[in-house]
Amino acid sequence: MPESAKAVLVVGDQRVELPILVGTHGERAIDISRLRELSGLVTYDPSLANTAITQSAITYIDGDQGILRYRGIPIEQFTEKPNFIEVAYLLIFGHLPNKTELSQFSEALTENELLHEGLTQQFYHIPLDAPPMAILSAMLSQLACYHQEFLKVEDPESFLAVAARLISKVRTIAAFSYRRSQGLPFIYPDPHLRYCANFLHMMFSLPYKQYIVTPEIEDALNLVFILHADHEQNCSTMTVRTVGSAKANLFASCAAGVSALWGPLHGGANVEVIQMLERIYQGGMSAEECIAAAKDKSNPFRLYGFGHRIYKNYDPRAKILKQACERVFANLQHKDPLLDIARKLEELALADPYFIERKLYPNVDFYSGILLRAMGIPTNMFTVCFAIGRLPGWIAQWKEQHDNPESRIIRPRQLYIGLVEEKYVPLAERQTSQRIF
Ligand code: ACO
Repeated sequence: MPESAKAVLVVGDQRVELPILVGTHGERAIDISRLRELSGLVTYDPSLANTAITQSAITYIDGDQGILRYRGIPIEQFTEKPNFIEVAYLLIFGHLPNKTELSQFSEALTENELLHEGLTQQFYHIPLDAPPMAILSAMLSQLACYHQEFLKVEDPESFLAVAARLISKVRTIAAFSYRRSQGLPFIYPDPHLRYCANFLHMMFSLPYKQYIVTPEIEDALNLVFILHADHEQNCSTMTVRTVGSAKANLFASCAAGVSALWGPLHGGANVEVIQMLERIYQGGMSAEECIAAAKDKSNPFRLYGFGHRIYKNYDPRAKILKQACERVFANLQHKDPLLDIARKLEELALADPYFIERKLYPNVDFYSGILLRAMGIPTNMFTVCFAIGRLPGWIAQWKEQHDNPESRIIRPRQLYIGLVEEKYVPLAERQTSQRIF
């Protein structure tokens, strides 16, 4: 990483010189890693909105221009013949796979698509209405019990083996959690099917009737997974890196990523979007009332699927998903009224000064749910689908950190604002009026 001129920090009569690091596209970062050592000062950046926590060569985003690239390749270039497995390989191993590498990776996925029967049995002990994200996080964590040989991965072969297990089994776990919720028998993976077709087969085939996927739907699911595959240092990826920085294994780190992704301000937003659109469709509120509620500062409601910490322009993923919705519905027999409502909300928001001034545009979650609905995927599985797509990104980011000899445990500082020093009071002498938190 090249260094340019130094930044000079002057505090009173103290003068501290700090290196400036320069990224590929000329973006500059003041390296404050020695600031405390040199000056006794720490920096304050709650929610880390202005802090680069790592150097990374995986994903590039220009939020002002709406650019997203995986390993330098613009995501628009993956849309023609979308192949999620190819993209997963690219993100994790840093280059597009050649034919041999792709077929070896695909074989590894096929060989690892089954779950240990011990794990499968556990689905029978989960309540039928259990949230699928809770199941996914727990099951990914439990893979560590059945694949203990991968708790440490120090060579490239083991890494490929564990990555293949995770990427393959996550889809089986997801499909089984859906089958369990429906009281349907588990459908085992079919080794002849490609990744996305196999997932839909496990979700929707019946013992007496094979689900047949159309090329449009298979492409659309590949596209959804690709568009979610990585997004640099977002909340769940940061979680995966934080857990991984303690040298925790890949299963535990990715399980933690699932938990972070579950939140409605992050991956859970795709569920909130559909619930919002359904409420409008059912007459619970009009599109105009929805926009007004989102602008009302006394109301915690937000226009879900809008706004982004990094994008201050149209999220390029939302643009592609919107076009994919149009394409998929052109081939289907039915229309989805929620698509019309989404279009209307977008139109109203993009013409409204509140959204214009704050540069709030549709994000990836605004149209993804409508596309998943077109495939028959129920709303409570949307965030699970996001997790399936994001898994290669988490693995790539975990690997990049793991392979970096300079990586240290992630351990931020704080600015303590509590009491100075208090005396311990025995229980019998304590005031009863003290508030209990
Ligand atoms: N609806 C209404 N107002 C919004 C929205 C929204 N969706 N998003 C941001 N704002 C407002 C904020 O209230 C704030 O207003 P203020 O300046 O008057 O206080 C201003 O826009 C700036 O927003 P921040 O909260 O500072 O943005 P932040 O970067 O912290 O949050 C986030 C980004 C969480 C995505 C936010 O835009 C949001 O809550 N969106 C809705 C949830 C959503 O769609 N999440 C998915 C994001 S994509 C992903 O994680 C995969």
